[in-house]
Amino acid sequence: MPTHSTIMVTGGAGFIGSHTCVELLGHGYEVIVVDDYSNSSPQVVSRIQRVAGRFLGAVYEVDLRDRRTLSSVFDRHHVDAVVHFAGKKAAGESALIPIEYYDVNIGGTTALLAAMQEHGVHQLVFSSSSSIHGDIDKGPPTEQDPDRPSNPYAASKWTCEQMLADVCRLRPEYTVLSLRYVNPVGTHPSGLLGGAPPGEPAHLRPSVAGMGVGGRERIVAIGGGKSAAATSGVRDGIHVMDVAEAHRIALEHLDDSTGLRVFNLGVGSGTSVFELLMAFGEVSGRTTPYEVVDPQPGDVAERVADPGATTRERGRRAARDFAALCRDTWCFHRLNPTGCAG
Ligand SMILES: NC(=O)c1ccc[n+]([C@@H]2O[C@H](COP(=O)([O-])OP(=O)(O)OC[C@H]3O[C@@H](n4cnc5c(N)ncnc54)[C@H](O)[C@@H]3O)[C@@H](O)[C@H]2O)c1
Repeated sequence: MPTHSTIMVTGGAGFIGSHTCVELLGHGYEVIVVDDYSNSSPQVVSRIQRVAGRFLGAVYEVDLRDRRTLSSVFDRHHVDAVVHFAGKKAAGESALIPIEYYDVNIGGTTALLAAMQEHGVHQLVFSSSSSIHGDIDKGPPTEQDPDRPSNPYAASKWTCEQMLADVCRLRPEYTVLSLRYVNPVGTHPSGLLGGAPPGEPAHLRPSVAGMGVGGRERIVAIGGGKSAAATSGVRDGIHVMDVAEAHRIALEHLDDSTGLRVFNLGVGSGTSVFELLMAFGEVSGRTTPYEVVDPQPGDVAERVADPGATTRERGRRAARDFAALCRDTWCFHRLNPTGCAG
């Protein structure tokens, strides 16, 4: 896809979306953001432009499920491809409000596909999740391993992938790359972007970093991890700038073939919650209190993805290391104790 193309980024004000917008602007793309700010803030938009040194093509406050308004956005722009991040993302929360998760994630994706079809847009990079694999007994799952989504969030992502597989099988003009990532962490090194979720962060990274600047009182670590090196939950941790780059590279390879292609995105090795707490302690000079609790339904003890296919096909590995992601995350939270909205 040529770098002057126009890309719609849904959820572009969110954590991964904002970093991807910076990456795309930096490579000459015209970027249209669609976001309802349900888990972000309009302030992120000016920060994206400040970091990138370029203006976004346009920004629309739209809930994807509002089909008429979404369609009017496509009316106004010649969109070449869509990168689709918008959705709800917390596995634990999804067990409490499953209907909202299905409504936003599947309903939003269905509405987006309908608007794309109506406007002859057939190229999509989909933000998927390795949680589709569930808790598996062997080592890191590959894309060929069975899907066993164990909570409504994972099931919603799995359903979207099934939908995309059907669309691609039945309508050969469609090309979709689905990127399944495990645990994007870190922030842009400028300290200007990092996510601005209102309320309590549901993910570990902002929770740990937020502790050091007056966030919650203690970290709750899920016990029962299977790794001998850890007694707490173990997660892969890929730097969000590597994830952003991967989306730009995915766009560049959309034209390689038609149909749905699925790739894992991750580092390929895991870090326990305790290792993360210690690393943040080192960069911040502060100690983080924690408590270990039993896993809840839908919690997965260990999630590390095998990124082998991505490396083989694209000749590319995650470039940034654990130290960089801890340093960048701490920098963002030190400068923005209440997130981008502060
Ligand atoms: N962060 C992770 O650990 C992780 C891991 C695997 C997959 N993912 C997936 O990546 C995507 C982005 O994740 P993130 O961490 O950037 O999340 P995020 O919550 O920071 O960003 C999502 C953005 O989508 C917007 N949004 C939500 N519902 C919307 C709707 N109905 N209409 C328009 N905008 C809407 C939110 O306001 C937010 O700006 C999600 O689809 C998530 O499932 C995230």
